[in-house]
Amino acid sequence: MPPKKKESALRRRVEGKLKEAAIGSEDLSGVPPERMTSLMHELQVHQIELKMRNDELRRIQGELEKTRDHYAHLYDFAPVGYFTVSEKEIIEEVNLTGAAMTGIEHSALIGKPFSRLILKDDQDIFYEHRQRLLKTDTCGSCEVRLVKKDGHDFYARLECMVIKTEGDGLRQIRAAVSDITDLKQAEKKIKEHSEKLEKQVDFLQRMEAMGTFAGGIAHDFANLLTIIISYSNFALNAVGAENPVREDIEKIMRNAKHGLSLTHWLLLFSRNQPQERKITDLNALISDMEKMLRRVITNKINLVMSLDPDLSRILVDPAQMELMIINLVFNAVEAMPQEGWLTIATANEESGECPVQEDSSGQQEPKMVLSVSDTGIGMDQETLSKIFEPFFTTKKKGTGLGLAIAFEAVQKNDGIIRVDSRPGQGSTFKIYLPSVREE
Ligand SMILES: Nc1ncnc2c1ncn2[C@@H]1O[C@H](COP(=O)(O)OP(=O)(O)O)[C@@H](O)[C@H]1O
Ligand SMILES: [Mg+2]
Repeated sequence: MPPKKKESALRRRVEGKLKEAAIGSEDLSGVPPERMTSLMHELQVHQIELKMRNDELRRIQGELEKTRDHYAHLYDFAPVGYFTVSEKEIIEEVNLTGAAMTGIEHSALIGKPFSRLILKDDQDIFYEHRQRLLKTDTCGSCEVRLVKKDGHDFYARLECMVIKTEGDGLRQIRAAVSDITDLKQAEKKIKEHSEKLEKQVDFLQRMEAMGTFAGGIAHDFANLLTIIISYSNFALNAVGAENPVREDIEKIMRNAKHGLSLTHWLLLFSRNQPQERKITDLNALISDMEKMLRRVITNKINLVMSLDPDLSRILVDPAQMELMIINLVFNAVEAMPQEGWLTIATANEESGECPVQEDSSGQQEPKMVLSVSDTGIGMDQETLSKIFEPFFTTKKKGTGLGLAIAFEAVQKNDGIIRVDSRPGQGSTFKIYLPSVREE
């Protein structure tokens, strides 16, 4: 191409580029060709830069759109309802969760007063809450019942925050609303449950107080009943066999014994009667009881005491031993309606006849044995298999507690009770108790 032509072609390209770059058209007629070449070069570089910036901007715009979509998704499908409410309580924005909670369409909510969603009875709660928030410009939560489109209401917690809008500086309240119906129901159940528990505790406390009271008077009561029994016995011994009063006295005696059994039961099973174990001389304990025992034994019965003077001592609750002995004696007396022998004996157990447990060293613990035998009616195998069960009785007016009490008293003192009996051949109860090793 001739130089002139080349130059004008270059000029046109530069002008074109200038226009493209929106720099405007300039008169380039006086510009030398070298300058135009470098201008052309600069323009090309500028164009590349512009394109790069453009690409960058497009990329950023794409990312912004993605973020906005992401945000909109998060906003709309958040697990809580979001409400933006103006200072005048008008709903300006709400997410889809908020709309779904109320059952009202999104578009129908915008522009509506928020208080319309609140149950009438709870509107004051929100009003006061809103006032407080706006006054202090802080955040805080309140609980109100919201009403759904179908008229049902539900408990909601509103976590609110005051926001100043940019530009006009007006304030808005943003509320995150969560349905707390389940929580409220659980709270209600817990409250009902704890009220019930409180009542039960109250009842138990009263029962315990009564138990303490009953336990406290049981001893006195037992003594009174024992006196009634012994005087009934005196009276029975004094009146003749044909005397019509006899039956009345027997009734008095029977009922007093019944009362005594129940009192003993109370003494043994009342939780407020702690066991008081002491090193005890069982012979002395029986001797102390003898006077009382003789008073409850009819004069047709011979009482024999055979107490081993070398008897080793035992670690027991003496009151429980007394309960056991008196119940065994009552049974023996009742087993001999006509006459007979009642023997109370003590001895150190040496024969090895007792099915004793071994101690940790494998040695048999030394034992002492108390036996209460009678020459009464005795028992068959079937009766024998049930005698220690509470309330088992073969008597017309029995309580069935005597032997259960004796069994419990023996158990509580680490002893063993055994019985040997045959119909018509009397009975022997043997109680084995661990002796105290005296060095
Ligand atoms: N020494 C005894 N001789 C014969 N039977 C007895 C004797 N001791 C207890 N029993 C039998 O064991 C049963 C249960 O005795 P117990 O628990 O004292 O209750 P209860 O004397 O009120 O019947 C008696 O009803 C009786 O059948
Ligand atoms: Mg009895």
